[in-house]
Amino acid sequence: MTGISAGSLTEGLHTILKRIEAKPRKIVETAVQSMLQKLFQLTLSQPAFQNIPGPAPIFPIGNVLELQKGKPIWQVLGEYGQQYGGLSLFWIFGRPSLVLNDPDFLQQVLLTTQQQTGANTSKHRASQADFYKDLPRKALRPILTDSHPFVAKDAGPKWQHLVKNNPFNMTYFREWLETQVQPLQAFVETRAEELVKQSEGEMLPAYDVIQKLAFDGFSLATVGQVFPDPVFEQFNTLCTTGTDRMNRSSIASWMIPENPKGKPYKEVSRQWFSLFGEVVEKAQAKPSGGSLLDWVLTRGGSAFTPEQMRNFCAGVYPGGAVSAPSGITSTLHLLFQHPQELSALQQDLEALFRDPLTLERLENCVAVEQVLRESLRLWPPVPFFTRNTVCDRTIHLDGQAIPANTQIFITNWFLQRLSPHWQESESFKPERWDANTLVENDYGSDYFFPFGRGERACIGQDFAKFFMRLTLATLLAKVEVQFGNHPHDQEFYFGVSVPRQLKARFVLRES
Ligand code: HEM
Repeated sequence: MTGISAGSLTEGLHTILKRIEAKPRKIVETAVQSMLQKLFQLTLSQPAFQNIPGPAPIFPIGNVLELQKGKPIWQVLGEYGQQYGGLSLFWIFGRPSLVLNDPDFLQQVLLTTQQQTGANTSKHRASQADFYKDLPRKALRPILTDSHPFVAKDAGPKWQHLVKNNPFNMTYFREWLETQVQPLQAFVETRAEELVKQSEGEMLPAYDVIQKLAFDGFSLATVGQVFPDPVFEQFNTLCTTGTDRMNRSSIASWMIPENPKGKPYKEVSRQWFSLFGEVVEKAQAKPSGGSLLDWVLTRGGSAFTPEQMRNFCAGVYPGGAVSAPSGITSTLHLLFQHPQELSALQQDLEALFRDPLTLERLENCVAVEQVLRESLRLWPPVPFFTRNTVCDRTIHLDGQAIPANTQIFITNWFLQRLSPHWQESESFKPERWDANTLVENDYGSDYFFPFGRGERACIGQDFAKFFMRLTLATLLAKVEVQFGNHPHDQEFYFGVSVPRQLKARFVLRES
């Protein structure tokens, strides 16, 4: 006997039969796929895009399946950088979309002025004037009003007015920020103690509790009060609807009505803006506190109307109360996974908190800055954003003619993880940020731009960095944040990548 039983023989035969069955299915699948690819070429493809590499689109969906692979879109777009180079193409149904993964192309789109290219004469290089911001405008309405700089199509006079008069751009902004160090430190300490108590019984959803902390901290700083919990819930209702509208508008923007249908969202939006209307009205009547709003009302410098000021106050949250908590949560998780780096940071924090904290001492704490930058490099909270080529003419990028009104995806995911620019690029190594690396890879440089680049880069970045530094330093000096084994999967939420799955317990550190 060879030891082969009747049972294993049947099993073996079964496997062989299955393979035989599978083969023709595979052959049919491949044939159908190539037929659909040809059909796409014949019907939807456009000659202008033929030279640009990318995955083969199929009729009628283009590359939509590519984006459903279970990976977030920015990771798929980043991988195109590896597979196809700095300029690639994918199709959302019949709509061509370019993906930029090259620092020089990004410079042209986000930094280069018309004068630098010799106006429209260049057949090779583009400039900022060749692009406009489109995609989120309709989808984000009505949580973002027309007086939010984010929704301005171009950097024209209206946008310039909004930016010049923005409270974050007042000459006394840093002076005001200095006054926020102590109150926000005390606020984060109290919140940390509450989180310790709340997580005694069960692990907490890490992003959600940090998002609430950021929402309340932002409120305290900008309008001088913490709102009741339902206001936070209203905000997330607006963000959830905005996310849904963004997802649908990326497929076909005509599907999105200018004003969202459905009563609950409309009503929430109305309540949200009326709340901030009242806040501004009260502050105007008696601007006595230390909030940014009070400072602007007493010190002046902004020509905003009361309505624009209301929209500024309401607009701080969609700007940063999704992204900043994503950055904070990711940093806490990375440090939990790297105990050596965490304990090195904690030693520096002990020195930092030996004397009262000041803005200057916080900003000069190299360990905090190294950890924050390394986290923003690996897990940028805003990993992609978009532009469109202008509607009235063909533009040229690297000699390639790009038709009018072509959608462009820009991602920092690929360049911020690109080897050999970043050695051991996938590893969390805060110490890589030595003095040279800090200077060579400043915020908004070729391989590090978590807040975007150029004149349309993030308006709230100084405040966001300040808030993230302060929250991380204060939390980590006071508590151990212990995470469970949940994956650092990222979910697309209101234009931000959010590590929603993480659960954490907060435990007081022994002093
Ligand atoms: C960690 C936190 C934050 C991150 C990662 C972040 C990221 C970004 C990025 C990448 C852009 C550029 C988008 C583009 O070029 O299309 C941007 C723009 C913008 N951000 Fe932030 N942001 C953060 C916090 C904030 C905060 C706190 C505010 C407060 C108001 C804010 C307000 C804005 C505005 C108004 C713009 C649009 C500027 C313009 O188009 O002219 N952001 N942000």
